[in-house]
Parts: sequence; structure tokens; C-alpha cells
Amino acid sequence: VRGADLNRPELIADGAVAVDAGRIVAVGDSTALLDRYDGERVVDASGRLVTPGLVDPHTHLVHGGTRHEQWGRSILGLPTDSLRDGIGDTVRKTREASSEELHRDLLGRLDAMLAHGTTTVETKSGYGLSAPAERRLLDVVDSVRHPVEVVSTYLGAHVMPPDFADRREAYVDQVVAQLPEARRFAEFCDICCDPVGFTPDECRRISAAAQALGFKIRVHGDQNGPAGGAEFAVEVGASSVDHLEYVSDRAIAMLRDCATAAVLLPGVTYHLMDLVPTPGDPTWSRPKHPDLAVKFRRLVDSGALVALATDYNPGTSPTLSMQMIMQLAARLYRLTYGEIWHLSTINAAASLDRHDQVGSLEVGKQADLVVWAVPSHELVINQFGVNLVHSVVKGGAVVHRRDERTALRDTEFWPEARPR
Ligand code: NIG
Ligand code: FE
Repeated sequence: VRGADLNRPELIADGAVAVDAGRIVAVGDSTALLDRYDGERVVDASGRLVTPGLVDPHTHLVHGGTRHEQWGRSILGLPTDSLRDGIGDTVRKTREASSEELHRDLLGRLDAMLAHGTTTVETKSGYGLSAPAERRLLDVVDSVRHPVEVVSTYLGAHVMPPDFADRREAYVDQVVAQLPEARRFAEFCDICCDPVGFTPDECRRISAAAQALGFKIRVHGDQNGPAGGAEFAVEVGASSVDHLEYVSDRAIAMLRDCATAAVLLPGVTYHLMDLVPTPGDPTWSRPKHPDLAVKFRRLVDSGALVALATDYNPGTSPTLSMQMIMQLAARLYRLTYGEIWHLSTINAAASLDRHDQVGSLEVGKQADLVVWAVPSHELVINQFGVNLVHSVVKGGAVVHRRDERTALRDTEFWPEARPR
């Protein structure tokens, strides 16, 4: 969904969804559906919003440790690790973690995502950066069994490991050599085309080899400088290019009507405080990226295929909640209610090549639904800071229910917001 259509979410007042064998068989008016179907089980969602499950198309769920100490220094603008060193720190902690710990933590993270409404997630390797260490991360993802559907991505080309600093070609060779093995586990190959990552020429070598093996491509692009990341992504027909803080005008024009999705990551903008001046910095009166909302507005209005993601990782965006991301997208990027819902469901699904399976409530699709504790789609974005999920259905099964002791009580909590 692109451009002005993003502001036309399809709403059904007093709606219902009929599900059979995990698939949606009808969507429409409640009374009509209750007449037509003799449900084995009826879930009453009266007064509650029901939406497609949220899709999170960019995360780094398998890692060891945190980076809260470095981040704590950055609050006051004190000198701290570069992003490359920060990623190096997580690589070290990840290599030190046992596979059991990584597996257990992955499950815990998926639980939290599900509880906040995510039913499909993409996750990447990329904190191993040697062939055996990357393989281990792909194995951990491969072995996980959880109601949230996990889409696996190989990110051998995340950053150059320190021991390869002046042997860049040798590291690219290593990534290329691992592609056939990685292809057995991963559907996508992500490549970081960014000043902290790889040059467009290095990226092209990797993408050509990956595509020859049937990988679809994702790109970390132009996060830390104008690196030609978005141009590279469009050139090779990538499924997505993510970040885009330094996207060029030329790339914005290229992304228009293009199949490559532009995935925006407001969790990074928020966590790195990119819109807030840094105390102590001589240029303190100017935040790092004052114009992000303007740029991203042009991207959306020009007809690019735009999506949202958490980019969950311990350094630049430690949030598991797509709900939070939706709430930030309005406040930081000034995206509208309708835009944000489309960007977090059907467009996120499209960036993962799953738009015919998930991302909307349509006949034939997987029955992935979120029942919300509020009566309208606007309130999920207008409210913030409390989990608004009532329950979650994945493939037709209720897989999560709110904890009644701590949850937002009920729709009578919102007297002025009448069910629509
Ligand atoms: O924000 N390639 C760089 N960017 C990553 C950093 C992840 C991290 O800080 O650990 C990202 O997606
Ligand atoms: Fe990322």
C-alpha cells in the first residue's frame, strides 16, 4: 500500500473473522457471519479493536549481553564507543554466550514480542562474524519453536571484524564462502552498505553470489552516512533497504514505485536521541538529524513501499515492541494513524515476501489476529507506554492472553471512545 492509499485503512464496524484450519475463511459483519457459520468456538471481542498480527521485518534477536553502560555515557554526550566498537562488544559477548543461553534468551524475546502483538518476525545473524560463530547463530534460530513465525536472515556482512581491518577482501571472501551453508538456514542475506559496514562494490560481490544461490537481499543502508546503500539496494532488486537516515534525494526518487521496501526504524532515532540536541557538544543547539521527518514524509508521499520495524538489538534499539515503534513513528516521523497501521502490517509483510500469507485480514490468509484492549485503531497509537494487547491469535489458535492482574482493565476504561 503506497501514497495516499495509506490513509484509507479498511475498517469494519462490529466486524467478525471466521477461521477454519488456521486460515481466514470470511471477514465481515458480525451478525451476518454468526448466521452463516456455526463456530466450534466463538471469541467475543465486543468493544475491542481486532487487527492483523503485527509484522516486524528487521531485528537482531540472537546476541549476548547488553550495551547499557556505553549508552549511559552517551546520554550526556560523554565520549563513548563508536558504533563499530559497540557492535564489536556485542560480538564478543555473543561469542562468549553458550548456545543454550542464546536459545533461552531468544525464546524469552519472542514471548515478549508476541505479548505486544507481533506474530511474524525477521531476525538476523551478524554477531558471530566468523564462519563457525555465524553458523552457530543460524543454528540457534533454526532450532527455535515458538508461535511467532521467525524468518531467518544471514548477516555475515554486518561490520568488518577487527582482525580483518586491513584485509577487507579476505573477509568478503569469507562471507561469500559461507553463503552456500547459510542458504540451508536462511531465506534472506542482509548486507550492511554503510560507512560502518561495506562499500557498494564489496556489497555487489556478496549480493551477486547470494542471489545466485537463491537468497533474497536485505540491506542496512545509509545509517551513518551517505554510502550509496539505497542506490545499491534498488540496483540489485533487494527486498528491503533499512535505516536510511542519510538517504540521498536520488535514492528517494529511485524508491518511488519500486519493489524494494524502505524500512524505517524510529526505535533507533529515539534511542540514539537523534532529534534531541546533545549537551556539551559545540553544536548542541542542533540535533543530529533534525530533518528526518521531512525526508521520510517525501519518501511516503512519493509512492515508495515503506514499512516499519523495531531493529531490536542491544545497541541502537533495545525494544521488542512493534506497538512502541508505531507510537514513535507518529511522534518522531509524523506519520499518520492509517500510514502506521499499513507500514506495520501489510507493507512489513511485503518486505518479507509474505504479503499473500499474513499482514491483512483477507480470505485465504493465515488467521493471525490481535485483539486490543481499546476500541479503535487510533487509540493504539495515541496511547503510549502501556501494553494495549488483550489477546493474540496465531494460525487460528489463541496463543497469548493478557495478564488480568496487571493489564489495562477494559474498554469501559475509555468512556469517550465509543466502539465504532
Ligand atoms: O542499527 N550496521 C549497523 N547497524 C546496526 C547496529 C546494531 C548494533 O548496534 O548492535 C543496526 O541495525
Ligand atoms: Fe539492524
